[in-house]
Amino acid sequence: MNVFNQIIAGVLPLVPKPIVKKVSSRYIAGATLDEAVRVVRRLNSEGAMTTVDVLGEYIKNMDEARENTDYSLKVLESIEKERLEGNLSIKLTSLGLGLDDAMCEANVRRILDHAKAHGNIFVRFDMENVPYTDRTIDLYLKFRKEYNCGVVLQAYLHRTQDDIRRIMADGPSNFRLCKGIYVEEPEHAIKDYEGIRTNYLACLELMLAGGAYVGIATHDSYLVDGSKKLVAKHKREKQTYEFQMLLGVRDELRKSIIREGYRLRVYVPFGADWYGYSIRRLKENPSMAGHIIKAMFTGGR
Ligand code: FDA
Repeated sequence: MNVFNQIIAGVLPLVPKPIVKKVSSRYIAGATLDEAVRVVRRLNSEGAMTTVDVLGEYIKNMDEARENTDYSLKVLESIEKERLEGNLSIKLTSLGLGLDDAMCEANVRRILDHAKAHGNIFVRFDMENVPYTDRTIDLYLKFRKEYNCGVVLQAYLHRTQDDIRRIMADGPSNFRLCKGIYVEEPEHAIKDYEGIRTNYLACLELMLAGGAYVGIATHDSYLVDGSKKLVAKHKREKQTYEFQMLLGVRDELRKSIIREGYRLRVYVPFGADWYGYSIRRLKENPSMAGHIIKAMFTGGR
């Protein structure tokens, strides 16, 4: 990030909430489940599958973890009832990881039981920052024997290739591969852009060669092109992988991937905690700095 964008990222918390809401509305389906269902229906009609995420990181107590768990159960019920082409993504810290790990595990099990009972809906464990990497992988390894679930791995971590080998050696695997979104120390993470791209393709190749199902999560055209070459090289059937993108990011790329006949899933976040999610997305994308400045002058119109 250049100095200008660093400054913008630093002052973002001072931008009035209504402006952040206006600018970030493209990234978030809304505050309610009804709004999320509407967005999912629209995406389904455009040929995209979805994964729904209840925004609720940074909880302070286990009551909030229970509320988030209950909300995820409602999402699962809607997916079945409304016959949506969608599954569920969960963040384990929003269910209590780091506060009370045993209770978090019980919450995850409740969600997985509910998903099983409502049409065996797939559940993806999102990956958070390094204090949670081991525990997230451990819970995935534990639960995948009984439930339809998968985990996310981050190409920026030095450890990821080892994790892939270890997880695949233990049984059939279902991964989402992304670059990684958190700010990590160099001892944990590759810091240069090209280095992360190189490791992304190396990780993807390991996953494809080992027969894992892969959600190829990126908006980076270079990686999308590289991934297409790798799935062709490994002669992967269309049903054994998918592309994944975030709601509101690079819509044209999304449409062109679908037009070419690839399967694609859009990550659809919704919920009352839209503010924290928005700030992270805006800080992540330097080009959004211009939108923020413009919105400050125009009131977001
Ligand atoms: P990169 O950041 O280089 O973006 C490529 C291009 O896409 C940019 O040049 C820009 O044009 C556009 N772009 C990217 N982000 C944008 C934005 N916010 N707004 C507008 N344009 C944007 N991370 C994590 O740590 N744990 C997780 O569980 C997940 N889960 C996840 C699911 C899905 C479906 C996706 C797509 C991503 C994640 N991520 C994630 C986030 C991921 O780690 C990464 O931070 C972002 O995808 C950005 O990386 P790209 O590969 O898109 O490349």
